[in-house]
Amino acid sequence: MKFFVDTAEIDDIKALNDLGMVDGVTTNPSLIMKSGRDILEVTKEICEIVSGPVSAEVVATDADDMIAEGRKLAKIADNIAVKVPLTWDGLKACKVLSDEGNMVNVTLCFSANQALIAAKAGATFISPFVGRLDDVNIDGMDLIQDIRVIYDNYGFDTEILVASIRTVNHITESARIGADVITAPPGVIRKLADHPLTDNGLNAFLADIKKAGIKIL
Ligand code: E4P
Repeated sequence: MKFFVDTAEIDDIKALNDLGMVDGVTTNPSLIMKSGRDILEVTKEICEIVSGPVSAEVVATDADDMIAEGRKLAKIADNIAVKVPLTWDGLKACKVLSDEGNMVNVTLCFSANQALIAAKAGATFISPFVGRLDDVNIDGMDLIQDIRVIYDNYGFDTEILVASIRTVNHITESARIGADVITAPPGVIRKLADHPLTDNGLNAFLADIKKAGIKIL
């Protein structure tokens, strides 16, 4: 399973990339606003750090403008995935941009039918938002399971990119279901290493190391 990091913060991207935890990056207008940087400038910088797909989202809502913005974003670097919303205009832009050879990430997916039509429009990635479904009392992971079954039934090669991840359990479940990619905030990725028994065990070893005066270097 590939790990994308859901942020436009350069320091977080660099730190996780150094650990081999970054197969790609996703951004959105809210994350760009949070970074306080110019979208083109920060996206270019991210593409210089990360070799995998870097999603950059269009801001227009009609297909022709989305296509023009997508072409401009795609010129930033070879690893840009143009991110478009799951609307009919977004799907039209997806079809045109993917036919031109660009990676396209179709975002704001909340149903299996939306995922089905995104695959038919040639999406490279479909981004179902599990956390936002959980927020309205619908199990987001059920949607991932449904999309996995549908894509496998028909051999679609659109990758399932689980988005809006809020907890480490979303990542475990994504891996169990066989999602292709997760995108998570840096803080959630960092929590993957945490376990109280690891901390307890290490503390006990450290106490014995001190008592016995064990040294290696
Ligand atoms: C993914 O591409 C989105 O940027 C992101 O996962 C949305 O997450 P949120 O629902 O926590 O804002």
